[in-house]
Amino acid sequence: MDFQEVFGKPPETQASAPGRVNLLGEHTDYNDGFVLPTAIPQGTTVQLSFSSDAYGGLRQRQHHFYSENLNEQVSISDINHSPSGFASYIFGCIELLQKAGYTVPSLCVYVQSSVPMGSGLSSSAALEVATLRALRQLLNLPIDDVEIAQIAQQAEIQYAGVQCGIMDQMASSLADTEHILFLDTRTLERRVMPLPEKAEILVIDSGVPRTLASSGYNQRRAECEEAARSLGVKALRDITDVNLTKTLPEPLQRRARHVVTENNRVLEVLQGVTSERFGELMNASHASLRDDYEVSVPALDILVDILQKTEGVFGARLTGAGFGGASVALVRSGQSKGIATHVLEQYNQAGYNGQILVPALD
Ligand code: GLA
Repeated sequence: MDFQEVFGKPPETQASAPGRVNLLGEHTDYNDGFVLPTAIPQGTTVQLSFSSDAYGGLRQRQHHFYSENLNEQVSISDINHSPSGFASYIFGCIELLQKAGYTVPSLCVYVQSSVPMGSGLSSSAALEVATLRALRQLLNLPIDDVEIAQIAQQAEIQYAGVQCGIMDQMASSLADTEHILFLDTRTLERRVMPLPEKAEILVIDSGVPRTLASSGYNQRRAECEEAARSLGVKALRDITDVNLTKTLPEPLQRRARHVVTENNRVLEVLQGVTSERFGELMNASHASLRDDYEVSVPALDILVDILQKTEGVFGARLTGAGFGGASVALVRSGQSKGIATHVLEQYNQAGYNGQILVPALD
């Protein structure tokens, strides 16, 4: 069903935003640290029109949201404050615009997405950013791309309950598929960098859905905040010498060690590195996420291990929050599909159901 079939009229405007894959700098953004994401070809499109509904004669707004992927329609009024699922992200964006002083009338919202869900490629950020872009167009809102990312992040925190950093929303709002976006998440200073030489990106889903992602995630964040407090700094970003983490009790010591070493890896890339060195840093990142940060799962370790041992792969690691989801690898240009076939053969023989996500298969 398209917009016309669902709502009985054509949309007035539409906007899209991509998902993202993070190459390096994992679990650093909520520590005020550094990240290196890039946009993926898959994206989310949001179509909008005004709705004439007023709720219960009280002149409350009533919105209608439809997800093509889920084939699900949700109607929400201003006084119904806690939708779940895809509706919570859209509702969060609308509510935050209202709180910022903009008037958002009753809306019909239609969502279609090609971003894989639950793989750590930020389908939620793509939905938030596409929603806000479409609203900016429809209502002529004076908000820029950074403000869109900031509102989108708040929608995720306040309405979806994940205490996330700002990487995903900044990547969806500002990155493209041809470059890496270096971002300092404290100052929001950024630099657009080319991909490492003669290399391309391969993303393979482990086929293991992310479990405990939000509770485990919020727990890691709390541990990092405790570590920063114990070390007397505003955030772990302020520690650059990993030896300083040795005074911390476990598991805070390992959590802090991951964040400090991961920030240093990103900063090394910023100085300019070869594809080989970039790959080594990705491998080190995976080991750190597995052993120190403990956000990997056996399936991802097996998948990453196969990737790392495959000819033509510079380096590989889990990407996103972890607890399941996808791997990212930096591979020799032109070889990603061949490498994926070889890796998936071995991985799926071990009883898993992996699949290639980037490059997108036609
Ligand atoms: C999720 C969050 C991001 C970031 C990553 C881990 O994607 O939304 O803010 O913390 O996990 O690097």
